Amino acid sequence: MTSHDIPQTMGQQAGRRSWAEPWKIKMVEPIRLMPPEARQKALEEAGYNTFLLRSEDVYIDLLTDSGTNAMSDRQWAGMMLGDEAYAGSRNFYRLEETIRTYYGYRYVVPTHQGRGAEHLLSQATIKPGDVIPGNMYFTTTRIHQELAGGTFVDVIIDEAHDPADDHPFKGNVDLAKLEALIDRVGAEKIPYVSLAGTVNMAGGQPVSMANVRALRELTARHGIRIYLDATRMMENSFFIQEREEGYAGKSIAEILREFCSYTDGAWMSGKKDNLVNIGGWLAVNDEEVFERARNMVVVYEGLHTYGGMAGRDMEALAIGIEEAVQDDYVQARVGQVRYLGDLLLQWEIPIVQPVGGHAIFLDARRFYPHIPQDQFPAQMLAAQLYLDSGIRSMERGIVSAGRDPETGDHRYPALELTRLTIPRRVYTQAHMDVIAEAVKAVYDAREETRGLEMVYEPAYLRFFQARFKPLGR
Ligand code: F0G
Repeated sequence: MTSHDIPQTMGQQAGRRSWAEPWKIKMVEPIRLMPPEARQKALEEAGYNTFLLRSEDVYIDLLTDSGTNAMSDRQWAGMMLGDEAYAGSRNFYRLEETIRTYYGYRYVVPTHQGRGAEHLLSQATIKPGDVIPGNMYFTTTRIHQELAGGTFVDVIIDEAHDPADDHPFKGNVDLAKLEALIDRVGAEKIPYVSLAGTVNMAGGQPVSMANVRALRELTARHGIRIYLDATRMMENSFFIQEREEGYAGKSIAEILREFCSYTDGAWMSGKKDNLVNIGGWLAVNDEEVFERARNMVVVYEGLHTYGGMAGRDMEALAIGIEEAVQDDYVQARVGQVRYLGDLLLQWEIPIVQPVGGHAIFLDARRFYPHIPQDQFPAQMLAAQLYLDSGIRSMERGIVSAGRDPETGDHRYPALELTRLTIPRRVYTQAHMDVIAEAVKAVYDAREETRGLEMVYEPAYLRFFQARFKPLGR
């Protein structure tokens, strides 16, 4: 077995050799499981929306892997080196240099988090009437593209929409779909291809190096740029190392750098695989796009040498980038997610396969075939998990998909999922066991579970604030 291999059935083989986290725990934060009646009350007060629960009322928090990572002692030490100057902070230059080194782009604009960068990039590149193809939408990405006057068009391969299909690179762009779109609307209407690593809404599914290389060739022929959502690119790089021919001997850092070299720039939510609690950035090679974004950042985020972050945040972010490209770290990160997935698969619980980089996605359609999609099965599944065990997860289905701006109807996505997102360096293998057993209990009670009705719906990104009530039997 080579160092990058993770056995598919960890813990099952005789004579096995396990991986373990390349860190030990120095500080702990107590958590508690509230009694069932208190959980019922908290859920009702939250309108059956896990986003509206108080964190204190949660036992194991799998709402997101965003900003919920544990920082290292070196990152905390770096926080003390914050140069809190309004302009020209030393920490900014270190961050800029680190991004150039590991991602390879020329120009860097710091932002408070990923959507700040999405806003700048969208405003700097999209004109009203433009079309932005991408490998499946992400909520905040698409809304910024729409607010800039663009229309997002999904060009991911069909396999991505089938939770049971075991294609190794379900995040790939379907080049034929993209080419047909270019023929239909014209290249001048397409400011860029919006490419995401480990596609979040598809279940954390990677893009292969061969795909991004071919995408580069196709877009170059038409003069179209590629901007990368690099939010979880370390995890994407791991899957390339593990699954793609020719990459087993390359490091995560080398793979990341090569992947980025086929794109024109990237935006980043540092709160994910840059291992911090807050921060983000936009990095591009095009000077004109950079100048526009750098000018806008002072209007929306802060001066172009801090963009909404404190000096100490930028220091922690720079150190986080270096820690996150270490092969043993990424192996343990993805390995922990896979450990949980393997347990669920052994019990024949329906999840998206292959298991992705940051989360397990429960397939709510197969959990609750008797609940129609407009009665929010994935939302109800998240509620049931909280009721059973105080575990907080997130809906990624019809509620997240929102309404079609033209018709006002719900969008009905093929994937109706509940996401168990694993924060980085936070929970132990014992937590994974507890989570798996909770999912099993909810699955065993599936036939008695009914759907929900939505009783309050906000105008934008409704999944964050919508409220629900259970339907009667
Ligand atoms: N792109 C992707 C793929 C994301 O997953 C997120 C955030 C963003 C962009 C926006 O970044 O939150 O820093 O503004 N995803 C979080 C999640 C919220 O839970 O998946 P942000």
